[in-house]
Amino acid sequence: MEQTLSIIKPDAVAKNVVGQILSRFEAAGLRIAATKKTRLSRVDAEAFYAIHAERPFFKDLVDFMISGPVVVTVLEGEDAMAKNRELMGATNPAEAAPGTIRADFADSIDANAVHGSDSVENAEIEINFFFAQREIY
Ligand code: CMP
Repeated sequence: MEQTLSIIKPDAVAKNVVGQILSRFEAAGLRIAATKKTRLSRVDAEAFYAIHAERPFFKDLVDFMISGPVVVTVLEGEDAMAKNRELMGATNPAEAAPGTIRADFADSIDANAVHGSDSVENAEIEINFFFAQREIY
């Protein structure tokens, strides 16, 4: 069974749509193997998004990700990484297909409701960033 990491970002948590987003994962056949609400420190967010450190949007991304609590979830299922990305829709909500999470809940490319791992290799790294093995079932 494949696992991937989802982050429900501060904008979607503030909109009180955590349950609606988690329901979409379950309705698509993904299982919640672990989940928690947490708030990232600046050091956490900079480390998590280190791959984007040289991009012009890095500071805005980090500022946004620490602006409020997030809900991090390990999703498990067949093709979990790709399935989650399909459910999320394009990074820019203006380009996200109708019915996707970002089309329905995101406001901008920064406040884009959710993050999902972009490869199985990164999923493992991102899951280990947030969860101990004993927290994943
Ligand atoms: P996420 O999937 O969390 O990965 C990095 C985030 O950077 C992305 O979602 C967007 O919220 C944010 N971002 C802001 N501007 C851009 C951009 N031009 N290209 C990609 N990501 C961007």
